[in-house]
Amino acid sequence: MPAATTASVLHQVPIDLGDRSYPISIGTGLLDDPATWSGVPQASRALIVTNTTVAPLYAARLQKTLEGRHRAVDIVALPDGEEHKNWQTLNLIFDALLQNESDRKTVIYALGGGVVGDMAGFAASSYMRGVPFVQVPTTLLAQVDSSVGGKTAINHPLGKNMIGAFYQPRLVVCDLETLTTLPAREFSAGLAEVIKYGPIADMGLLDWLEVNIDRLAARETDALAHAVRRSCEIKAWVVGQDERDAGLRAILNFGHTFGHAIEAGLGYGQWLHGEGVGCGMVMALHLSRRLGLIESKFVERVTALLRKAGLPVVGPALGADRYLELMRVDKKAEAGEIKFVVIDRPGSAAVRAAPDAMVREVIDLCCRPA
Ligand code: NAD
Ligand code: GLY
Repeated sequence: MPAATTASVLHQVPIDLGDRSYPISIGTGLLDDPATWSGVPQASRALIVTNTTVAPLYAARLQKTLEGRHRAVDIVALPDGEEHKNWQTLNLIFDALLQNESDRKTVIYALGGGVVGDMAGFAASSYMRGVPFVQVPTTLLAQVDSSVGGKTAINHPLGKNMIGAFYQPRLVVCDLETLTTLPAREFSAGLAEVIKYGPIADMGLLDWLEVNIDRLAARETDALAHAVRRSCEIKAWVVGQDERDAGLRAILNFGHTFGHAIEAGLGYGQWLHGEGVGCGMVMALHLSRRLGLIESKFVERVTALLRKAGLPVVGPALGADRYLELMRVDKKAEAGEIKFVVIDRPGSAAVRAAPDAMVREVIDLCCRPA
């Protein structure tokens, strides 16, 4: 894609966390504009952490812009894919930092999707006990969710995102133009996390999505800007009250308990994270209905929107025993009891346990062999 000639900040969303506060800039042409980066701490060195898919698309452009700000800007391109979100790949970031003689002021820029962002953030949290980092999310999912709020992690073969840290970026830059090169399947996966914010927090967003889903799918700039801004505002509202995930923040995991089981059960990289979350939301909605919290009509309404967004709404037939085994490794589980994010009324979510028999019924209803 040609470099943009003019940059435009369409929205700024503040994340209010006291001395860890930072802005999210949402706009077009931001990668190429030196003004975008003016709030980043002064440092002679910077490292752009990206992957082998995103590097040829955007790394040189970002490097060129940042060279006006840092004396040396290095790039490390990690192997692409959720299956590489592990210790071995994390170590490539530390190798690059040490080989480049990076000091404790070195700024790490995470240029890519949630996998790159989570790993670069974790590396930033621990290199020399913490260096500044900036999130430059290039997938829809990362712009509306993973780049915001400071959760960083890698996977363990026994559980997703099990090893990590809370570590806030200094700035998040969502350049909507990067979304034009995103494959359709990845774009749909990102829509799952946008849709998520409706049932848990904002029925106005759900109404808007139902009307505008085709404009979003066509990646119209004003539709994207609205979806990213509203998602970031809701995430900022939640994270501002519960940065360390002690209570309210759990609602952001709507659909994730079932979704993580799908991802882990099939093997990371088979279903995309957002696909697991989308289907997981359908399952969590059925559970909410069985718990007597919502009506079937609402389950059908959200399911129809997910389907329209191009997401799978039928889960893989892993078997109820396997689902339950995988869900017991979830971070919300307490003493082996699985906790689910349920919808307690449209636009509001809560965390609840549910009888195994009811969860089995939901799995049997929602999952089929491929
Ligand atoms: P991803 O990082 O794997 O990116 C998806 C694919 O798109 C990759 O192949 C990537 O190389 C490619 N890509 C990225 N930007 C592109 C662009 N502009 N053009 C073309 N291709 C591009 O996946 P994701 O969906 O962004 O993120 C999923 C990850 O985020 C999971 O590991 C999940 O656990 C994590 N996550 C973290 C949080 C959090 O709060 N930290 C929240 C949600 C999800
Ligand atoms: N995506 C879940 C969270 O940030 O808490």
